[in-house]
Amino acid sequence: MAAKSEAGFAHRILRWFDDHARTLPWRNPPGESLPLDDPNWPYRVWLSEIMLQQTTVTAVKPYFEAFTSRWPSVSDLAAADDSDVMAAWAGLGYYARARNLLACARAVVRDHGGRFPSDEATLLTLPGLGAYSAAAICSIAYGGHAVVVDGNVERVLARANAVETPLPSAKAELKRLAALATPEERAGDYAQAMMDLGATICTPKSPSCLICPVEALCAGKARATDFPVKSAKKAKPHRTGITWWIERDDEVLLVRRHERHMLGGMRALPSDDWDKKGTDAALSGGDLLGEIEHVFTHFSLTLEIRTLPAETSCIEGLDGEWWPRDRIADAGLPSLFAKAAKLALKGRKD
Ligand code: ADE
Repeated sequence: MAAKSEAGFAHRILRWFDDHARTLPWRNPPGESLPLDDPNWPYRVWLSEIMLQQTTVTAVKPYFEAFTSRWPSVSDLAAADDSDVMAAWAGLGYYARARNLLACARAVVRDHGGRFPSDEATLLTLPGLGAYSAAAICSIAYGGHAVVVDGNVERVLARANAVETPLPSAKAELKRLAALATPEERAGDYAQAMMDLGATICTPKSPSCLICPVEALCAGKARATDFPVKSAKKAKPHRTGITWWIERDDEVLLVRRHERHMLGGMRALPSDDWDKKGTDAALSGGDLLGEIEHVFTHFSLTLEIRTLPAETSCIEGLDGEWWPRDRIADAGLPSLFAKAAKLALKGRKD
């Protein structure tokens, strides 16, 4: 994209957004003044941006509604029990986000009088906020001029500029291109327009170039799916592990995962050292009920589900809780263990 086209690029993107913005529960309609007299507005933007990291809009919507009904303000969230928040986050994945969410809400209440800061530098000091989320909150919540770069923005710009450098090395170049393209006015709408364009038109696998508002300015359109160029991917390692389903009367044994472990702070079935960070339980053996497959960012996992009698001596040292079997859906299990529980329940003989 030639330098003279940059203003035209943002202009076309914003005009398209004015007509095609997705209606989303955390969003202000495009072009309308920001509802800054609503004290909970920045909180809602922050919450949505944390939830949307590595997670689709469709998956986030019900969680956003549930969180904002239950905790309408950042002070409400800051005062919540950790276990309630972790359980409400169950199924959304990347659980470090939920732990940071609470830490951030508490820091906003403690250090900023319950009001999210508006400048990027101060936002960056808050737990769980990185360059992306600080820029997103500054521009979307407060209308500041900040350069927002996520995967969608990178893809659109890599195509528009036919960037041949592979990711991740291309990140610095893409950030520079993003800074050039971001308009002085309406930087938040522009950021969200780029995200919507990336999610609906400039999609990873089958972009709809014919209806794209910036097709005329796009240097990469003849081979859009070649961009962004990516370095050869390493194969994901595969691991195996075991989790145990232990029943007593109509209850099942759950543990709380250690903070240091993956899915830390979440309720779970006891399991072995599949995350290589230690084990909940010195358990072994048991009858095989089945196995499940799960994919994490850095590895895939085959997890065996085994059952042991409640009388087994090896559960004695376990710091667990007996949870009603037919209320397992309310335990807030992360997806890995929810899948395991589903399989165990399907396999049990009544
Ligand atoms: N992905 C991350 N933030 C978003 C937003 N504000 N709108 C749409 N998609 C997003």
